[in-house]
Amino acid sequence: MKKTILFAFTALIFLMIWSCSDTQKESSTHSESTHYIPHLGQMMLSTQIYHTKLYYAGNEQNWDLAEFYTHELTESLEDIIHYYPEYEGLKIKELTTNTALKQVQNLEKAVEKKSLIEFQEGFTQLTNSCNACHVATQHPFIKIKTPEKGDFQNQIFLK
Ligand code: HEC
Repeated sequence: MKKTILFAFTALIFLMIWSCSDTQKESSTHSESTHYIPHLGQMMLSTQIYHTKLYYAGNEQNWDLAEFYTHELTESLEDIIHYYPEYEGLKIKELTTNTALKQVQNLEKAVEKKSLIEFQEGFTQLTNSCNACHVATQHPFIKIKTPEKGDFQNQIFLK
């Protein structure tokens, strides 16, 4: 699991660097500039990473870090809505706004209150909302769960 996330993350960084250099090459030959927009699956990968890190931070009651990750997760979901309001005929904007984004807002309140119980309850609901949308968008085989310790060992989540 750790290796898979690390590999996927490295691949994402590589893709971003590669696409930047490609854009530079293109802009020297074409006057119109092009921007790299990650694929929806890659944006989901960032979402998954923030979902994991948010859990570690909240579970350790490191509320400053948890607040940071609720913010990152919100931005990540807003990017998805912005770039993929519809995807393969699916209403991504509507679904994300009514599911995951709502749950992150609930979690923000738990973090503000510094309530571990509310954080854990809210986190389960957030995870359920990720999966509900995967079912609604014909990706029921992508199943998200509460993370277990082990990923991101190069970062300290303890306060
Ligand atoms: C709008 C509904 C929707 C919501 C909300 C949603 N997802 Fe997704 N997710 C999708 C779709 C659709 C795909 C498939 C994208 C593709 O075709 O590449 C996907 C793919 C994924 C993948 C596979 C990407 C990969 O590279 O392995 C992961 C992981 C993932 N989502 C995590 C999450 C997490 C975590 C959340 C909640 C915080 C979440 N998703 C919320 C619709 C959603």
